[in-house]
Amino acid sequence: MSVCLALDIGSHYIKVVEGYSKKDRLVVRKAGITRNPFPNAHISLNENLQKQFATFLKDFLKKLGVKRSETVCGISGEGLIIHYFDIPDVPENEIKNIVEMELLQVIPGGAEKIEFDYAILPAQNSGKKTVMVAGIPRSKSSFFVNTLIMAGLKPIIMDISGVSLANCFMTFKKNNQKSAAVINVGARYTNIAIIEKKGFVFVREIEFGGNLINREITRLKNISNLEAENFKKNPQFSDEIEKILKEISAEFIQEISVSLKYFETRTSEKAEKFFLTGGSSLLPGFLGIIEKTLEIPGEIWTPMSGLYESCKTDESECVEPCFSQVLGLALRKIV
Ligand SMILES: Nc1ncnc2c1ncn2[C@@H]1O[C@H](COP(=O)(O)OP(=O)(O)OP(=O)(O)O)[C@@H](O)[C@H]1O
Ligand SMILES: [Mg+2]
Repeated sequence: MSVCLALDIGSHYIKVVEGYSKKDRLVVRKAGITRNPFPNAHISLNENLQKQFATFLKDFLKKLGVKRSETVCGISGEGLIIHYFDIPDVPENEIKNIVEMELLQVIPGGAEKIEFDYAILPAQNSGKKTVMVAGIPRSKSSFFVNTLIMAGLKPIIMDISGVSLANCFMTFKKNNQKSAAVINVGARYTNIAIIEKKGFVFVREIEFGGNLINREITRLKNISNLEAENFKKNPQFSDEIEKILKEISAEFIQEISVSLKYFETRTSEKAEKFFLTGGSSLLPGFLGIIEKTLEIPGEIWTPMSGLYESCKTDESECVEPCFSQVLGLALRKIV
């Protein structure tokens, strides 16, 4: 039994889970969610703000009663590189060199400029392997690691958001026999993982989230961002919100559709269902809007349901959909 601390620092909420895996199950010992007062905390802050953020995080973890400092954390957003390519079926020890050569082709400066990791996934053609490589600029990675160290943590693994979502899905929905898409809509970003039953995973990020709805409400109603945040959550205005959402999400849903087509071309498999999660999955009518365009059934996915006895939060309604990614970090298995 190895207890770890999983941390998902989103631009809107910070999510924390302390737990351990037991026979393919996750036991959650401590959980908490809080508003992130520093939306750029995982990208860059000046020295003073970085210190303030580290103190804020340290205090929050203390309030939760978290004991572990070994941390698995998620990264997403600006600067993240995700790249797929096929290679011949070469021995394992040759793959790192091939990945470095590939990075040289696709990133200015090549592997030198980024922290990267890769995973070997099943390819459609026999005699080939598919490599998924993920990286972030070294400067972003070291800023993030330093911030966590300042908060008293020992960062041991960084996982990209789509991969942690896929991990969460593969554990909690292990009986799912069909290929499926997980769509995690946050505040700034949406992380997508399209998962094939044989093990291929396509992950992608799209710049779309609750902030865009707030911006549109702010513009239409001439109110502040804080007022827009409350307006958005008020069931009295749900018809109006749904109408706004329909308009501003059209391009975003087209992007998901393109990802599903890419997945289908690569795997000859069709994702037959999608699972909508993340704080913005609570937007009224969102599931139906996506279903209508993608023409596949969807379901709101809240893997945190029933997993915890007490979760420290001031905003209880958003607990369950917001934990998919951090639960995947706590499970850290496939990659
Ligand atoms: N009841 C609700 N109705 C609609 N939206 C909601 C509700 N509760 C929270 N949200 C929205 O959910 C978003 C936060 O969700 P989440 O925690 O998944 O994002 P995040 O991880 O902080 O963001 P990102 O990963 O994009 O940086 C915010 O945009 C917030 O306004
Ligand atoms: Mg997020």
